[in-house]
Amino acid sequence: MFLIRPLLSSDQAFLWDALHVALWDPPPAPLRPREILEDPHVRIYAEDWGRGGDLGVVAVPDGVERPVGACWMRRLQGGVGFGYVDDETPQLGIAVLPAYQGRGLGRRLMAAALSAAWAEGIRQVALTVHPANPARRLYEGFGFRTVEFRRTFHLMRVSVPSVGEAGVGEGSPNADPTRPGLDAR
Ligand SMILES: CC(C)(COP(=O)(O)OP(=O)(O)OC[C@H]1O[C@@H](n2cnc3c(N)ncnc32)[C@H](O)[C@@H]1OP(=O)(O)O)[C@@H](O)C(=O)NCCC(=O)NCCS
Repeated sequence: MFLIRPLLSSDQAFLWDALHVALWDPPPAPLRPREILEDPHVRIYAEDWGRGGDLGVVAVPDGVERPVGACWMRRLQGGVGFGYVDDETPQLGIAVLPAYQGRGLGRRLMAAALSAAWAEGIRQVALTVHPANPARRLYEGFGFRTVEFRRTFHLMRVSVPSVGEAGVGEGSPNADPTRPGLDAR
C-alpha cells in the first residue's frame, strides 16, 4: 500500500533522485551520471523546492518515510525551461524509482498532481517527453496532447477540464473518484 501526499521541502533529497530518474533515455542507456543534476538547465526543476506556486505529490510505501515516486510542477519565468509555454504554465516532471515502476503509481501520482493543480486554479500544465518514452501513453490518457516539437522532444499540454467534462480519457483524474488527491492521508 502506498500513501499519496504532498511533496514538501523536506523531501528535497528525494526530489533530486526523482529528477535524476526523470531524465529518461531510451534503453539500454543507463541513468545519466548524477552530476547532470548540477547542470543549470536541469537543476531549475528541483532546486529550492517549496517556492510559491510549487506543487507536487509523492508516493510513500506503508511504514516507510522515504518516497518512491513523485509528480511535481513548477512555474518558471521568462522562457526558462525546456517545457516553457508562458510564465503561468507550470512544467511537470514525474518519476517512480525503477523497483516500483509498472504498479500503477505513476498513474496515481499524475491523477493527484493534476487534481491539485486544477483545484489551485492552474489553467494548463506542460511537459516535454522523449518521442520513444512509453510515458507518452500515460500522458495522453490524462489528456495531454503534443502541441509542438522541441528538437525531437514532444512538448505536451493539458488544459483544465471544462465544467461538465467528466473525464478526458481512461487516465483522467476524474475517471475514478476513489483515487486519492493531494489531501489524501
Ligand atoms: C513514467 C513513469 C513515471 C510511470 O510510472 P509507473 O508507475 O511506472 O506507471 P504506471 O504503472 O502507473 O503505468 C501507467 C502507464 O504508463 C505507461 N508506461 C510508462 N512507462 C512504461 C513502460 N516502461 N512500459 C510500458 N508502459 C509504460 C503505460 O501507458 C502505463 O499504462 P498501462 O499499464 O495501462 O499500459 C515511470 O515508469 C518512470 O519513472 N519512468 C522513468 C522516468 C520517466 O520516463 N519519466 C518521464 C519523463 S518525461
